[in-house]
Amino acid sequence: MQNDEQEIITNRGWLPTWWMLLFYGSIVFAIGYVAYMHGVAGWSQGKQYGEEVADFDKNFPSQTAKLNDDGSNPFRGDAAAIAAGQKTFDGLCAACHKADMTGLVGPNLVDATWLHGSTDKEVYKVILEGVTVEKALQNPVRGAMPAHKTSLGSKKIMEVMAYLASRSPSLRAK
Ligand code: HEC
Repeated sequence: MQNDEQEIITNRGWLPTWWMLLFYGSIVFAIGYVAYMHGVAGWSQGKQYGEEVADFDKNFPSQTAKLNDDGSNPFRGDAAAIAAGQKTFDGLCAACHKADMTGLVGPNLVDATWLHGSTDKEVYKVILEGVTVEKALQNPVRGAMPAHKTSLGSKKIMEVMAYLASRSPSLRAK
């Protein structure tokens, strides 16, 4: 009876052996795990991100599109793209540029004057990134042009540009 009590008193403050083994074991495991992932397996956050992005691009090719190497729009002359681009233009751009593209708040897009360049590459940048108020307030004073990077994305912008090119011969491929 007396011995039992003493045993309990001396053990007070110590965690059970199985718990301590688990504790040290998990530290050893963690060190080994880090060494394995970053050393042997060569895992990295950047690499995994890149793989996931590549996977997305493969599964949803319609979400992303790239200009040709020379900067020209790959959808030029593509009837389906032009029709899709017209829909987008009427819904999103016509409010400022007028349905016939002759301009309201935004400038005329079917004349020969291009404020920020007349090539596909330059116009793509304007539609993608927009024109900030500060830039638009330079001489002559104009409004801002909203960015369409997230609202449209690259492919839809290029479709709109195919429609633009079909109406505006002064928009050059390169
Ligand atoms: C809120 C009004 C508004 C909307 C919506 C808008 N724009 Fe604009 N856009 C402007 C203004 C204002 C400018 C002139 C900006 C500047 O350079 O000062 C402009 C400029 C441009 C230019 C450059 C013209 C040039 O001469 O270089 C292009 C191309 C263009 N817009 C296309 C589009 C397209 C395509 C859409 C639809 C996806 C669109 N815009 C939607 C207001 C708008």
